[in-house]
Amino acid sequence: MKGLILSGGSGRRLRPLTHTSAKQLVPIANKPILHYVVEDLVSVGVVDIAIVVGDTVEEVRASVGDGSRWGANVTYVHQEAPLGLAHAVLVAGEFLRDDPFVMYLGDNMFEDSLDRVVDGFVDSGDAARLLLAGVEDPSAFGVAELDDSGVIVGLVEKPADPPSNLALVGVYLFGASIHEAVRSIQPSARGELEITDAIQWLLDDGAAVDHRVLDGWWIDTGKKDPLLACNRLVLARMAGDGVVIDEGAEVVDSTLVGPVVVAAGARIVDSTVGPSVAVGAGCRIEGSTVVDSVLMEGSAVLGHRRVVASVLGREAQVQGAHLSGGPVDGVGADLSVLLGDHSVVDVAGGVEGGAIRDG
Ligand code: G1P
Repeated sequence: MKGLILSGGSGRRLRPLTHTSAKQLVPIANKPILHYVVEDLVSVGVVDIAIVVGDTVEEVRASVGDGSRWGANVTYVHQEAPLGLAHAVLVAGEFLRDDPFVMYLGDNMFEDSLDRVVDGFVDSGDAARLLLAGVEDPSAFGVAELDDSGVIVGLVEKPADPPSNLALVGVYLFGASIHEAVRSIQPSARGELEITDAIQWLLDDGAAVDHRVLDGWWIDTGKKDPLLACNRLVLARMAGDGVVIDEGAEVVDSTLVGPVVVAAGARIVDSTVGPSVAVGAGCRIEGSTVVDSVLMEGSAVLGHRRVVASVLGREAQVQGAHLSGGPVDGVGADLSVLLGDHSVVDVAGGVEGGAIRDG
């Protein structure tokens, strides 16, 4: 089976972070999401992989390379604009040929391996196998309609009136007939070729569309809160409630509350960090408390009291004046931000003197 990873899209809901960087390269526990995706595919024997990329092609290529470090063979397919998941299949036609493949959305993360999902698909002769998960807000997703015997009879994208709570999650298995389907459908109201419509076309054509219902957690990381939730879950899996400090990181006069990971070259001084914080390579935290946050490479929190539920882009900086009495925790003292690369936020130090300064 081949693998098709979708890494186009504009990352609109993670701006400003995604003005300068692909959302699929945001790190979870200090590793880019896309690397987890490649590892997931390789772990079920899928090593012939194409990544569909848009404007962020160079950055994605620099991060993933040719895949040899995972024993995979990764190539790149250019999608000129984010025109839909079915459009991605269309542009990848030459790579995919008539081979069965796994399509994996490059910003999705899963708790469990894909073993159970891919098992037996190639021999089944089915046109597609979908992965479904019960969700609270099905109208935000593609939704499956099942008959009494549990067979998928219809699919609808972002329905106002969902036929079930079973959402299509970001992994799909297809046989060769999907190519005719993606060539046969028309763009949706949002102007995209929807994979949901292509699968509906298969159903209408009388094809067998099987499914599995997901057990473990699944997160579409494209927004700040789900991203942080994912960071918490992966950190807990990696570190339990422990602390992982890479060689070459420095921790001085500080308290680390696990799970926390600290990458090489980071320097933490006179601070409290954790729980659920990923400190990227070369970050600096001084005189501060950081909780439940992702600090990307080279970012810094200097002399501010508490940074919580925040994502700091590369080289971004939060700084604030020290109070004479040192960091103070208290109501109104928390700062929660999503900062693009190289941003600077300067917060005045005291609760008493709590004005925000310019520049
Ligand atoms: C896409 C699909 C949708 C699916 C979702 C999973 O939605 O169109 O059917 O449920 O991914 O994350 P989008 O993220 O493009 O809104």
